[in-house]
Amino acid sequence: MQMDQLVSLCKRRGFLFQSSEIYGGINGFWDYGPLGVELKRNIKEAWWRDMVTGHDELSVPEGAPEAYEMTGLDTTIITHPQVWKCSGHYDLFHDFMVDCRETKGRYRYDQIVGRWVAYQGKRIVVTSTASGAEAMEQTERRALKFFKLRAKDADRLDWQSGLMPLPTIDDFQVVLAPEAKSLGTLTEPREFNLMFKTYVGPLAGEDNVAFLRPETAQGIFLNFKNVVDSTRVKIPFGIGQIGKSFRNEITPRNFTFRSREFEQMEIEFFCHPGSSSAWYQFWRERRFRWYVDLGLAGERLRLREHDADELSHYSCGTADIEYAFPFLPAGQFGELEGVAHRGDFDLRSHSEGKLVREGDRLVVEKGPDGKPKYRGSGKDLRYFDDARRERFLPHVIEPSAGADRATLAFLCEAYQEDEVPDEKGNPRHRVFLKFHPRLAPIKAAVFPLVNRDQMPELAERIYKELKPHFSVFFDAKGSIGRRYARQDEAGTPFCITVDSQTLEDQTVTIRDRDSLRQWRVKIEQCAAEIRQRLKSASS
Ligand code: GAP
Repeated sequence: MQMDQLVSLCKRRGFLFQSSEIYGGINGFWDYGPLGVELKRNIKEAWWRDMVTGHDELSVPEGAPEAYEMTGLDTTIITHPQVWKCSGHYDLFHDFMVDCRETKGRYRYDQIVGRWVAYQGKRIVVTSTASGAEAMEQTERRALKFFKLRAKDADRLDWQSGLMPLPTIDDFQVVLAPEAKSLGTLTEPREFNLMFKTYVGPLAGEDNVAFLRPETAQGIFLNFKNVVDSTRVKIPFGIGQIGKSFRNEITPRNFTFRSREFEQMEIEFFCHPGSSSAWYQFWRERRFRWYVDLGLAGERLRLREHDADELSHYSCGTADIEYAFPFLPAGQFGELEGVAHRGDFDLRSHSEGKLVREGDRLVVEKGPDGKPKYRGSGKDLRYFDDARRERFLPHVIEPSAGADRATLAFLCEAYQEDEVPDEKGNPRHRVFLKFHPRLAPIKAAVFPLVNRDQMPELAERIYKELKPHFSVFFDAKGSIGRRYARQDEAGTPFCITVDSQTLEDQTVTIRDRDSLRQWRVKIEQCAAEIRQRLKSASS
């Protein structure tokens, strides 16, 4: 499947639209249309049900060290600004960027490297965003091209330095930007803050600055004590939250994959430090299986453990659940969800202040005056375990998923094409979305074959019977072939048709989206049949 086929289907059928399209759109923002909103809601509801409300806290799930509890929260998008200072986002989410006036590319200032090279008295810096051998090879190829030399003349180039970071180069007029053809196209570095800034209250002064949250997780840590004090949850337990997050991404791209406004589905799972490694293993597997059970069952899904050099300074282990999105080069995967073992970093930060690594310890970061750079709340966030008579700071396992990335992966995986006979028996090209029935925006469509002989009335009756139980669609317009085609593109698993035989024996045909098999059932058994089929597809 080519990505543009899916993008066009999403617009044509009302899954996704560019935000503010009539004004030319706004980069990095997407609206979900009538079918898209149902699909995304079904994904979020499946997550909430499978992770939170449907969780059986009396049994030990397969692979879990013991039984555990789950509960939910819905916290605010705007929090006290100190939250982001202690969490590390305020410092970490500040990057210096340079723009290329020629290619319109935008790059992290500290991630461009370059080499000095001279030819016939002209001295320039050739840059690359790669590293090591790849950067050496790229810079040589680009220097040859710039000086209009052939590969066999490579030794005529006078290389005057190894790879150097761009911040060490003062004169941008001699810099050949990555992918540019002319010199001096890079702008001066500009500070770029990935957190959206706003002001609370009527005055837009620095004292009133607040941020739109870049993740939902912090709202959970802030309420850890409230949840423990107001409920009877005992460690080990998890808190789930679904909600909007905002990141002023430098390069939003690949449809909804990297957006500036998106939704996350996050769990913070609190456990005793002694069992945290076993819980980390459990959550990696549990979350991976969730995607498999909902249809991402093939080779395009994988679980990848991070190498030690990829880990954040506080993480004791992180695994990504990744999907081979069609917009990526063959063999590459994009992150759907990260499962991280965060130790006691978050609760400690909100208690003591922003932490940094010093050797193998995490210590409160100090400012120039020797005092904590960002002060924590000072609240004791330790947990008291009655049974063990022990007070400790729990460890956290964090499975953090993106609702929009999951929606995009389910759309990519569902996209299918085949050939089916039309009403006259001629082969017709068909596009259909093979959604898992739990995720399908519409579960069944009801059609009268023609608009006469009581067929519309009977079809309406069936529609009204089903509607209180499922998301059902009634369609009496256009040829039956077109109506099937529309439902195939919407990913509707079943179509129910009232035809002339219905009038004789009170049966209707049910058509299966994937196999195209058709069979007849009595009208009064229609609801039970659909319910049964949806249930068996989900188990
Ligand atoms: N609390 C941890 C956290 O936020 P993350 O890896 O930055 O971790 C978690 O984000 C998930 O949120 C990602 O795996 C992805 O699914 C989703 N996500 C992050 N940035 C996104 C963006 N710009 N657009 C869409 N989804 C995004």
